[in-house]
Amino acid sequence: MTTLVVHPLTAPLKGSVPVPSDKSIGHRALLFASLAEGTSSIRGFSYGEDNVSTAKAMRAMGAVVEDTGPGELRVTGTGLFGLKAPSEPLDCGNSGTTMRLLAGLLSGQRFSSTLVGDASLTKRPMMRIVAPLRARGALIEGRIHPTKPAELLPPLVVGPLPSDKVLTDLEYASPVASAQVKSAILLSGLYAHGTTIVSEPSLSRDHTERMLYSLGAPLKAVGTALQLDPAGWSGTLPAFEMEIPGDISAAAFLLVAAQTTPGSHVTVRGVGVNPTRIGILDIARGMGAGLSIMPQGEQGGEPVAEISAWSEGLRGVTIEGELVPRAIDEIPIACVLAARARGVTHIRDASELRVKESDRVATMVHVLRSFGVTSEELDDGLTVEGTQQPFTPACIDSHGDHRIAMTSAVLALGASGPSTITNCECIATSFPRFVGTLRALGARIDVA
Ligand code: S3P
Repeated sequence: MTTLVVHPLTAPLKGSVPVPSDKSIGHRALLFASLAEGTSSIRGFSYGEDNVSTAKAMRAMGAVVEDTGPGELRVTGTGLFGLKAPSEPLDCGNSGTTMRLLAGLLSGQRFSSTLVGDASLTKRPMMRIVAPLRARGALIEGRIHPTKPAELLPPLVVGPLPSDKVLTDLEYASPVASAQVKSAILLSGLYAHGTTIVSEPSLSRDHTERMLYSLGAPLKAVGTALQLDPAGWSGTLPAFEMEIPGDISAAAFLLVAAQTTPGSHVTVRGVGVNPTRIGILDIARGMGAGLSIMPQGEQGGEPVAEISAWSEGLRGVTIEGELVPRAIDEIPIACVLAARARGVTHIRDASELRVKESDRVATMVHVLRSFGVTSEELDDGLTVEGTQQPFTPACIDSHGDHRIAMTSAVLALGASGPSTITNCECIATSFPRFVGTLRALGARIDVA
């Protein structure tokens, strides 16, 4: 078990650092390269374990994924209709994106496959994808939730789609703004006989759509819905070259650490600033945080920028509505801004946080209180009362949730003595070099 001992900062954080490649975009690059005709090249890949789970799964189904240099992958695809049955269950590890996107993709295959995950993923709800996929004829079974019989948990057994059946058209209004739901449906739509129309209550990350558009798939926006109509389409995706932008979700830990530590100035380079992902920057700006964003053009069809952050006085705000899906993975670290703001921050409309790698509402309230910050749990979020006092040193169990582990480490930098964070191997799912990067900025962290 990896334990971090995080010492209070004795000097401001300073420096310019890279961040790992975007995990969401990495999954999609691997999936589409594996489904493409020919050999694609992916650069800037940072081997986060979640992305590696997707790579292993695609390999197990016939894609050739080769390491050709640091951060460089060469992927020879099977073509959309060339995947082969995996000989073993596909292990999605900790990655909900891997499991849900693969379920969509596999629902159109003539073979059966089993999707398994680690202890955390095995507790996460799957009916959100199973219901719409079943509605178009997919065969998917899972484990019935022990207390909520309408909910389905992993492992999932998907297919085989019988040879006399096809996936049909589907018009689906998702009750949650979820890129995983939207993407699973669109992937199944590539195999369907008929049109797929999918909408969501507000816009979640749109990396799947961007990639489908750029690969010439028959996708278009119709009002606020997406429409995919494979009729008359060649059914082929071309191989491509892509450099994956840096992950704003990883960068956020460093930016907030700087924004909450007096005298700090931190720059992160080559970070993806897709509008559907930068809710954390809007939140920080609204709180009065020091922030500058220098556009650096586009990479792989995604806007990128150099982002600098420094400390300024912060004020409490309300985080709710369409902002929440655009900052869904950054709400834990936004709580650190709130913990240093004048006044109370209210976070609402965020019940999705309860079904992430841990129940992030309950875990964050517990973490904040452990560091001496006043916080109250709400059904759909939490409140955080800011303080200018040093935080109380704490001993935190990450519950195997990488974002809780990293958020706790950032809080610990502002405590009055060393804090201990246990169960930190999960950090490697999204930010393998987290400790080294914080050290490069001046933090003192021991790894035990
Ligand atoms: C992701 C979508 C989000 C996010 C997750 C990655 C994706 O989940 O929380 O970390 O890559 O599609 P939901 O779609 O469930 O909101």
